[in-house]
Amino acid sequence: MGLTSNAAYKHAVPQAPDIHNVMNPDVYKGPWGGAHCRDSPVQTTRSCSCSSSDCQAKAKYIDQLKDIFKYSVKPGNLAAFFAESIQGMGGVVQFPKGYIKEAYKIVKENGGVFVSDEVQTGFGRTGEHFWGFEMHNIQPDIVTVAKGIGNGFPLAAVVTRSEIAQALTNSMHFNTFGGNPLACAVGIAVLDVIEEEKLQENSLEIGTYLLQQLEKLKSKYSIIGDVRGKGLMIGLELIKNDEFASPVENEKYFEVWEACRDLGLIIGRGGIHGNVI
Ligand SMILES: Cc1ncc(COP(=O)(O)O)c(C=O)c1O
Repeated sequence: MGLTSNAAYKHAVPQAPDIHNVMNPDVYKGPWGGAHCRDSPVQTTRSCSCSSSDCQAKAKYIDQLKDIFKYSVKPGNLAAFFAESIQGMGGVVQFPKGYIKEAYKIVKENGGVFVSDEVQTGFGRTGEHFWGFEMHNIQPDIVTVAKGIGNGFPLAAVVTRSEIAQALTNSMHFNTFGGNPLACAVGIAVLDVIEEEKLQENSLEIGTYLLQQLEKLKSKYSIIGDVRGKGLMIGLELIKNDEFASPVENEKYFEVWEACRDLGLIIGRGGIHGNVI
């Protein structure tokens, strides 16, 4: 609860102190970013003067991250930094190219460990890589996994180096269902199926096709403000037809949601305004 910055998930109860949310480097809705900033088959229609090797939006958002150390966290005194490789419930927001790699460097310089939350982006979903962090060219210190690892069976895992895992031996850590053999068997079977049925390749092929087709819908329908993602991790931001590309009204979103369900298509909802399919 402390980690999420999405108010819809915040309950009015005390939460862990000393957690700071950094500025969301959203190249579609944030102050910086545009048509060259994303690692996706589909870009935003906002103009930008970045080149493929030099993303100015990245540099601006990294400045904001550095400000956290200036104003909120004592430099050199960081415990950990958490990031999804592509934000999931945050609205399938992709970071500007190079952002995560540079954030990783800053985390290390400040003594922290880098935690990649691969709950949504892991297990080949993004197509090109098995793990989302691979697209950012980093090696996280801790990786958290769930959902896809069990294909519906309740299973989650934290993967780390032994020197970090060792810290848990400082006091008792107890978990009733942790490491149960049935869950482990399910996890192994799921890994086999992902490999045998080439699901990562499928994510790349079908996901890229879907993204390209959705981009065509975007140019046809003004309600679709942005199409983004990689593989089968895809977001469609629904907007009002105004100069600010404001989030579409709730009722409109639900109309789309219900219509899709009637057609046999189940879609999820994300974004801070709940306007991203
Ligand atoms: C990115 C991400 N991380 C973590 C979680 C929480 O995982 P779990 O329900 O296994 O605790 C979720 C959603 O449930 C999620 O979407």
